[in-house]
Amino acid sequence: MMKDYFGYQGKICVVTGASSGMGEATARMLVDLGAKVYAIDMNECKVEGITEFMQCNLAKKEEIDEVFKRIPEHIDSFFGVAGLSGSKTDYRTTFDCNYTANMYITLNYLKNRMSKGASIVFCTSTAGLEWKKFKREQNKVVHSKTWEEVQEVTKKLASSAPATFAYMYSKRCLSQFICEQSVEFAKIGIRMNNVLPASTDTGMKQEFQDMVGSEEGLIAQAGLAGRLATSEEMAGPMVFLNSDMASFVSGLDMVVDYTDTCLKVLGKKKNLEAVSATNPIICALAKKMLNKSAKNALNSGKE
Ligand SMILES: NC(=O)c1ccc[n+]([C@@H]2O[C@H](COP(=O)([O-])OP(=O)(O)OC[C@H]3O[C@@H](n4cnc5c(N)ncnc54)[C@H](O)[C@@H]3O)[C@@H](O)[C@H]2O)c1
Repeated sequence: MMKDYFGYQGKICVVTGASSGMGEATARMLVDLGAKVYAIDMNECKVEGITEFMQCNLAKKEEIDEVFKRIPEHIDSFFGVAGLSGSKTDYRTTFDCNYTANMYITLNYLKNRMSKGASIVFCTSTAGLEWKKFKREQNKVVHSKTWEEVQEVTKKLASSAPATFAYMYSKRCLSQFICEQSVEFAKIGIRMNNVLPASTDTGMKQEFQDMVGSEEGLIAQAGLAGRLATSEEMAGPMVFLNSDMASFVSGLDMVVDYTDTCLKVLGKKKNLEAVSATNPIICALAKKMLNKSAKNALNSGKE
């Protein structure tokens, strides 16, 4: 008999964003590895073999509370994968789905319903890579302990900054939150890690493509890989990090970008992520630029 090195057999695994892209690939791998998969998403999950699908808009606290009533009391592994780019949703929804939901679930459910040996992985983004540089911008959010407090400290930004800025800011806040909470969870024997994906061919691809202007542009940004990653290439690292194979790995920022960060460190590629996500002047300028390009796109469509 083959040894179960990953240790997922019979484990209760909760996956958010399980209906598309990386989350869907994660759910599929976990089913193959013998886990009991509880899939959460606002859209239906079609992965065969999952234990239960639960429809939920993660940007709504009450819906999260309802879903966690249906999940077994003891959770072995949590995969926080769901996310929004901000190109089709407003600042508040984007921020709450990407950050507030993960904070809320961690502090209100995972802390009480996991025990020694359990594991948590979140999916942030290379867009949040510079989180250590901007800790001062994130502290107020990351140190807020309730859903309502987060709403309060992000109220001004939500009404002034462009929604696409919520993406970078939410991913930075989540990365800092993971770093701080991994230390707290380590004290109770629970591991927590962060996967930061580069551009990946998922349901979100078109939205990032529209921001860059073309598929070629998106691929050119991908650097030495010469292509976008596949969903499986992001699911693999997440499944590994939450498995028994990574039993001494906690508090890790795992950047999955095929050397792109190294190119930036070596000065061989421009670092476009090193910009403030909250500075009012930068936010206003970005909003102006985005409005202008949206108007141009509208006008060219009329011709
Ligand atoms: N695709 C990329 O290039 C890329 C790069 C870096 C990071 N990411 C991150 O990867 C994660 C997975 O995204 P993906 O690329 O697989 O995209 P995707 O759009 O294919 O999948 C995202 C899933 O999240 C679900 N979702 C979105 N908002 C939700 C909400 N409010 N409530 C419940 N479910 C919701 C969607 O229905 C979808 O099934 C996201 O956190 C994203 O920010 C993506």
